Formats: sequence, structure tokens, C-alpha cells
Amino acid sequence: MSHPTPLLRTAEPSGAGPAAPAAAFAPHDGAVPVHVAIIMDGNGRWAAARGLPRIAGHRAGAEAVRRTIRACLDTGVAWLTVYAFSSENWRRPATEISDLTGLLRHYLRQEVAELSRVGVRMRFIGDRARFGAAMGSQIALAEERTAANTRLNLNIALSYGARDEIVAAARKLAQAAMEGRISPEAIDEAAFAAQLTAAGQPDPDLIIRTSGEQRLSNFLLWQSAYAELVFLDVLWPDFDAAHFCQALGAFAGRERRFGARPDAGAGRG
Ligand code: IPE
Ligand code: IPE
Ligand code: MG
Repeated sequence: MSHPTPLLRTAEPSGAGPAAPAAAFAPHDGAVPVHVAIIMDGNGRWAAARGLPRIAGHRAGAEAVRRTIRACLDTGVAWLTVYAFSSENWRRPATEISDLTGLLRHYLRQEVAELSRVGVRMRFIGDRARFGAAMGSQIALAEERTAANTRLNLNIALSYGARDEIVAAARKLAQAAMEGRISPEAIDEAAFAAQLTAAGQPDPDLIIRTSGEQRLSNFLLWQSAYAELVFLDVLWPDFDAAHFCQALGAFAGRERRFGARPDAGAGRG
């Protein structure tokens, strides 16, 4: 993967670099989502439109991830979760799976030091064991090396499926109940959420999906209960800071009610 620009412009100490792309979005208080999650879709169509193999689309997609990380730092988004490989993506041809895992290995080797340098903490959610021991240790190393960073929390969803995650949580609670460690009455939303892989993290406020598709594809089903959804017509490899700001702008214009009535105080009306 070539690095045409420094990964993170904001990391430059003098601040003498070009104007931040975030200038396109002027946030007001509370308008910047704490947690943005992205379904990065459209790599294959991007490549097909250029007569290129699908891997070229995935490679260009990795560049879009770098731009997005930079956009998070520029806009002050503290949590970013990216859907890189779903539990259903194992249904793809073996050649594409091996291209994708090869790219991921490359990404881990190339990017971790730079991400760490600029204050990104990396975590992985999903069934990492399916990628084998070697990749498993690379993933663990990336988590360890970045564990003390606090500027941006980056979750990478790999072999991730929300239904898997929910079933695993239910299984753990059933086991605990069977062993008498928890009573069934004590299983509430908080106890359930504590068993999910991203326990303790804020729920996504904004979920972006690129490529024009309008579905969640088994992504963060529990956590997205009150997320704002923004669907963009751009293919993931073309996604840039302007699209990110467009999504943040759409988010800022939404009224989040969480089931309540904004015109009535709690318990009235
Ligand atoms: C998203 O792009 C990347 C992954 C799902 C791994 P796709 O590969 O799904 O691209 P399209 O949807 O076929 O264009
Ligand atoms: C969702 O995209 C998964 C990722 C972006 C990693 P897909 O392309 O796999 O989703 P479907 O199959 O169109 O729902
Ligand atoms: Mg797709």
C-alpha cells in the first residue's frame, strides 16, 4: 500500500499544513456524534466500473479508511467502528477471501505504528479465531501496542456478525444462570450489554453506509437501537472527508427523541 500523503495531517506539530477538510462542517454543541460506525460498501462495484479486479477496489477502500481516520481526528469524533469483513463474507469465493485477508495482514503491518503515533487505539470485534493463529497474534499485537492511546478509539469489525454476538452473550448468561452465578431476574439490558464484545463502549450515534444500499447487513444490531442512519450514494473507495462531513451535517440536522416527546418534560403530556 503506498502512502501518498502523511496518514494524519493533524499529527503535524506546527499545524502549518493545509486547511483541515473538517472546515466543510461547522459543528454546534452536541452536533458531533461521539461514535460513528461505517458499513464500507461498494469496493467491488468501484473496481468493476474501472475494469479492475475486485482486490483493486479493496485496496482503494483501505485508503478511504485512512482518510476517514483523519476526518475523525479533524472533527473530534472519538469512536469509529468500521465494518471490514462480515461473518457472511465467508460465503465469498476463496480467492477474494484470501485477497482480503492478505490486504488486512498488510494493513496491520504497515499502519499500526503510524496509528499508534497519532493516538489511535485499535480494537477488533468479531470472530478473529477464524483467520488463524498468525493473524490472531498480529491482531493481539496491534491491540497491545495501541492500548494506551486515547485520542481516537478505532474498532475494526472482522468476521463480525451481530446475531453471532447476541447469541454468544445469551449463551454466557445462560451458563452463568445455570451455574447459579446470576439469577434470571437479574438479566436486564445492562447485564446483557455487558456480555457483548464492545461492552462499556458508547453505542454508535451515527451509522453511515456507502454504495447506495440501505440495510444493516448484520452490523451492530443491538447497539444501533437509536443510531441515526445515513445512506450515501458514494462507493466506499471514493469516500473522503467531504462525504464524512456531509454525513455529520445530516446527523446534526436530526432530532433525536429516544422515544420521548421533546415538547413535553419527562412525565408530562
Ligand atoms: C465492501 O465492498 C467490502 C467488503 C464487504 C469486504 P464489496 O466487496 O461488498 O463491494 P460491492 O458491494 O460488491 O460493490
Ligand atoms: C456488508 O457489506 C459487510 C461489509 C461492508 C464488510 P456486504 O456487501 O457484504 O453486504 P450485503 O451482502 O450487500 O448485504
Ligand atoms: Mg457489498
